Formats: sequence, C-alpha cells, structure tokens
Amino acid sequence: MFKSKNKHGEDATYSTAGFIDLKNPFFKSLGSNGRSCASCHIPTQGWTITPEGVQKIFNKTKGLDPLFRLVDGANSPIADVSSVEKRREAYSMLLSKGNIRVGIGIPADAEFELVEADDPYGYASETELSLFRRPMPTTNLKFLSTVMWDGRETTQMPGSSDCIYNTSTCFSPVSFDLSTQASHATLGHAEALQDLTDEERDAIVAFELGLFTAQIHDDKAGNLTAEKAKGGPKELAKQQYHFGINDTLAGDYITHDSFNPIVMTLYNEWNDIKPNKSPNSAKNARAAIARGQALFNTKPILISGVKGINDDLNINVLPGTCTTCHNTPNSGNHSTPMPLDIGVADESRRTPDMPLYTLKNKTTNEIIKTTDPGRALITGKWKDIGRFKGPILRSVASRPPYFHDGSAADLHEVVEFYNTRFNIGLTESEKADLIAFLAAL
Ligand code: HEC
Ligand code: HEC
Repeated sequence: MFKSKNKHGEDATYSTAGFIDLKNPFFKSLGSNGRSCASCHIPTQGWTITPEGVQKIFNKTKGLDPLFRLVDGANSPIADVSSVEKRREAYSMLLSKGNIRVGIGIPADAEFELVEADDPYGYASETELSLFRRPMPTTNLKFLSTVMWDGRETTQMPGSSDCIYNTSTCFSPVSFDLSTQASHATLGHAEALQDLTDEERDAIVAFELGLFTAQIHDDKAGNLTAEKAKGGPKELAKQQYHFGINDTLAGDYITHDSFNPIVMTLYNEWNDIKPNKSPNSAKNARAAIARGQALFNTKPILISGVKGINDDLNINVLPGTCTTCHNTPNSGNHSTPMPLDIGVADESRRTPDMPLYTLKNKTTNEIIKTTDPGRALITGKWKDIGRFKGPILRSVASRPPYFHDGSAADLHEVVEFYNTRFNIGLTESEKADLIAFLAAL
C-alpha cells in the first residue's frame, strides 16, 4: 500500500491491480504543455492538489512546473507570467487554495443572462466565466454517481441500468463517463492536439477505478483498523455499491430496502469503548471518532432553502441529518446524481479573490449574484444556479481546503459552515467529535 502523511495522520492507497502502476498513461505527459493527469491529481496530495503541495512545487521550479500553465492554472489566461514575482501573482488562486480556473460560458438557450462579471482578474465574460474550483480526487471512483462538481461529464443513456427510481431518466455507466472525461482533460488541461488512443483511455479508466484511498493512521487514535475498526482502503474496496444503493427518497433501487440514515458504520466496533482519564489516550480518541460517526448519522438538521431538495420536493423544512445528502454507505457522496445548492457560492460568502457574477432571469427579471453558477451553466436553468454535487468524503483529511471553491480552509471551517448554515446547535465537544470522525475517513 502507498502511504502519505497529512495534518491528521496518514492516508493509504490500495490498488486492486496489486500496485500503483507508475507506467500507466495517467502519469505520462499526454499533450503539448508537459502536463499529465498527475500534475493535478498527485498521489501524495490526496489524488488532488493542496496549497501546501502546490507552493512547494512553485518554490522548487520558480513557478515553471507544468502545473503552472496559463490555460487554466492562472487566474486569467492572459496574465503576465514573465518573472517569478509575476507568476506568484498570476497563479495566486492555485497557490492559496489549490484552485484551477474552469472556463464555461453561458449556454445560448439559458433562462438567464449575465448582467455583470466582477472579475478581480479582468478576464471573465459571458462567453467564458472563470470558475475557480478544486480538482476532485481520482480515487474511490467505484462509488461515483456523478462526474465533476457540476455533473457536466455525467451523460444520459436511455435504456441503461442506472435510472432514477420509477422514471425514464437513465445515466451512462460511470466508466463510460470517465472515459470521455479523460479525453476532455487531455484536450483541455494538457492542451493536446490529438485525443488519447483507445488503449490509453481504457488504461487510465481502469487505473482510476482500481484505486481506493482512506485514512489509515490517526495521530491521536493510532491505527484505524485497530480493535476491529473498518478504517483504511482495504475495507473500503470491499464496500458494496451500486447506483441508487441508498437513495434518500426511494431507498435501495435493487433490494428495495428503505432509506437507511445510518450511512457510516466503519467505526461501529468503537462504539463501546469506554473513555478513560488520560486525555490524550488512543482509547479516548477512538471513542471521539465513534461519537463523531453517530453525530454524522443522527444529529438532527432542519434542511431548508436548499435548491434541489426544498424546491424540488416542495417541502419548506426537511428534517434530516448529514446523511440525508451524504447517503452512499461508508463513502458519503450522493448515490444518485443530485446537485444541490447549500449556499457555498452565495454572494454573502464572496471573498475578494473570487469573481462575482450578476445573473438576471430573462422572464422574471429576478437577480442572483453568485461566485459560481454551477450546474446552471450546463443546463441553462435558473433553478440550477449554485448547485453542486456532494463529493465522496473518504480520505478527506488529505485534501484541504474544502468545497468546490476551497473556501473552507480545514475541517473545522466545514463544520462551522454547517453549524451556522443550518443552525444545528453543535456544542464545542460535538464539533470536535465530528471533526475527529471526518479526519478518520
Ligand atoms: C490542470 C489540472 C488538471 C489536470 C491536468 C487533470 N485534471 Fe482532473 N480535474 C481537475 C479539476 C479542476 C477537476 C474538477 C473540475 C470541475 O468539476 O469543474 C477535475 C476532476 C476530475 C475528475 C472527476 C472526479 C469526480 O469526483 O467527479 C476525474 C475523474 C479526473 N479529473 C480525472 C483526470 C484525468 C484522467 C486526467 C488526465 C487525462 C486529469 N484529470 C487531468 C484538474 C485537472
Ligand atoms: C442539504 C445537503 C447536505 C447536508 C445536510 C450536508 N451536506 Fe455536506 N455537502 C453537500 C454538498 C452539495 C457539498 C458540496 C458543496 C459545494 O462544494 O458547493 C457538500 C460538501 C461537504 C464536504 C466537503 C468535501 C470536499 O471534498 O470538499 C464535507 C467535508 C461535508 N460536506 C461534510 C458534511 C457534514 C459533516 C454534514 C453534517 C453536519 C454535511 N456535510 C451535511 C450536501 C450536504
């Protein structure tokens, strides 16, 4: 197993191939700018990139590593990169948050128009909004139901087996979407003049789908498989998954069991650990992780104002928990494509380093200001503004900062966000337990 240290301990990656094949085209320069998939999906940085890791690469190469390319590494593709100091400025979003600039325009038939693009870097327009987003990990993809933050690589395929319960909305198998995604990444990020060969594409997808990453050692709790706990990537590889395995509305699409809010069970064996008097003991840390798991599964959250839930279901307040949205067993993503707006891209959370877009509804003249319209740039629908998928939560300790825009610096800030957004009323010790649990995923 391949291991890598992070702020809370150590993660491990297990490959079903038996070893991490560094000869896979995933690690090869595939285009014209020197980049490989591993330029932005680095095994020692949670299979994404972290600001700490990016800064090291910048300092070592004076900002000339292929990661630093104008096309989408810089704040603007026309930024001045003629000196080290200019590059430090031009790549500031990559250096501070590990964010890549995704450029997407307003669809021609959109229900809204762009009234103003307030872009601190002076580039964004309706033909190409600059969206600063975190690369998502290329591991644990077995559990994926939706590809990319806005689901833009998730395609529909009538007649497939991955259909929303009792509807005719069916999606391509994820392996199919990952295959087109690899091509798009090569032509876009790597600025290739030619597409991947079929062999390369198949090898990349097979490689990605064989990877499992999870925290294996916690600085306080020790080995995360101790006392029969099921932390770490080997147990994760055994976890059952199919499309709609635990749909919040319809239950399990195949077994027809009803929705089970007890989504996380990997630390069940630690539920009975009795805390002892020594504050820094591994026993106490294990008990805290088990309490955090229980909070994740059961702490009541009154879900309101979430586009994709409250509007679609026509329910003002939906009583739920973290697992209402993070419903895939021991993985934590949505087990069906379900982009939601929990408010991360709201105007109220805009920081000076982010663009702010003013959008106007063509029919009602209503105005929404957002740092990233998310799903709406794919569907053109007003109701999809600010909607993003819920990511897989395993090995989350390896990849700060969090949310699509890297706006939460650490797990503490994630928990504070939820506590404030949904008025959960977590006590300080509950927050600490929840963080201990997330860090052990
Ligand atoms: C320049 C950086 C960069 C490079 C190079 C890159 N990616 Fe990514 N990758 C990203 C970003 C950013 C996202 C998220 C973008 C979004 O959702 O809008 C992403 C998302 C993904 C996802 C989606 C995961 C999920 O949970 O939905 C996969 C899979 C992926 N990349 C695979 C690859 C492969 C394969 C390659 C090489 C062919 C590659 N990437 C090259 C930056 C990069
Ligand atoms: C109403 C649905 C919903 C609820 C409830 C919810 N989440 Fe989320 N979660 C999401 C969505 C959607 C995202 C992605 C948002 C974005 O980046 O814009 C997310 C993102 C996250 C992330 C960031 C992961 C990453 O890779 O950046 C963490 C961690 C997380 N949630 C933990 C929790 C915890 C802990 C709770 C309970 C206190 C919780 N969530 C409750 C929907 C939800």
